[in-house]
Amino acid sequence: MSEDIVFIGCGRITRALVQGLVAAGRPPHTLRGVSRTGAGARVLGAEFGMRVVARAEDAISGAGVVMLAVHPHEAVSALKDIAGAVSTDQLVVSLVASCHTDAVAEALPGPAVVRAVPNVAVAVRTGVTVLSAGPGAGSDELALAEAVFSAVGQVATVPEGMLETVSALSGAGPALTAYFVKALSAAGVAQGLPIATAEVLAAQAIRSTAALLAEEGTTPDDVIDAVASPGGMTEAALFALGERGVPGAVGHALDAAVRLSFGRRITAAAHPVGGS
Ligand SMILES: NC(=O)c1ccc[n+]([C@@H]2O[C@H](COP(=O)([O-])OP(=O)(O)OC[C@H]3O[C@@H](n4cnc5c(N)ncnc54)[C@H](OP(=O)(O)O)[C@@H]3O)[C@@H](O)[C@H]2O)c1
Repeated sequence: MSEDIVFIGCGRITRALVQGLVAAGRPPHTLRGVSRTGAGARVLGAEFGMRVVARAEDAISGAGVVMLAVHPHEAVSALKDIAGAVSTDQLVVSLVASCHTDAVAEALPGPAVVRAVPNVAVAVRTGVTVLSAGPGAGSDELALAEAVFSAVGQVATVPEGMLETVSALSGAGPALTAYFVKALSAAGVAQGLPIATAEVLAAQAIRSTAALLAEEGTTPDDVIDAVASPGGMTEAALFALGERGVPGAVGHALDAAVRLSFGRRITAAAHPVGGS
């Protein structure tokens, strides 16, 4: 079996992975793409030199890793399309949101299945991907998946039961953070700042915080300690946030996202539902 990766589905997350993997030095001819209409695969072929293959069975033949990257509502038909083409010595990596590995293994009996939740920052090799071992996947299969994703960012492994929470936190996290930046900027405007000034200051606050947290070993508490002197204005602001129950509100927000993600799960036992 070769080290080739075949992508079933050539949309946004495949684009991000192909861009990151090629930037990491992977030869483009080791990446193959198939998409329903062929349009997505052709775009990635033209842009990154990925091999574009018209028929899924031809693309899958001889590849080491079969990466399933279609929408949840397309998963059942995509799995039907490739059933029979995937062999037991291949590794199936499913990126499909809310799709349990049992459902993938039921549709594709034989090969080991790993589920992966990457984010789009894999395009610029600063992504984070969370992996979970599914049926037939042991340490060797996880190591193979980790080798692919570690080329484009950080990798963590959790039990599959945690992946809906991971998807919610990782997926909604940027929007929740941007929501806070917006609220901070609006609060500055309410205190009399011009909107342009408030927006620049709030956006810069998040950039500086991200830069500090990107330093090895720096925790959010380190940043808070560095800014909040005892009896000072930051301490007063943090106290006010706690008084208004902001940590609880954030927990409530994540809970809503996790519940939605669980509600849309595709399992082997359940009839498939939902979208991403
Ligand atoms: N986008 C993200 O940041 C992200 C992050 C983590 C996980 N995911 C998950 O990754 C999956 C893909 O997301 P996406 O954003 O990349 O979706 P997308 O941009 O909508 O792309 C979906 C791709 O699947 C193709 N497709 C549909 N049915 C197919 C079939 N039967 N055989 C082959 N290809 C088929 C489509 O082909 P056509 O274009 O020809 O229709 C399209 O290229 C989703 O389950 C999503 O939840 C996405």
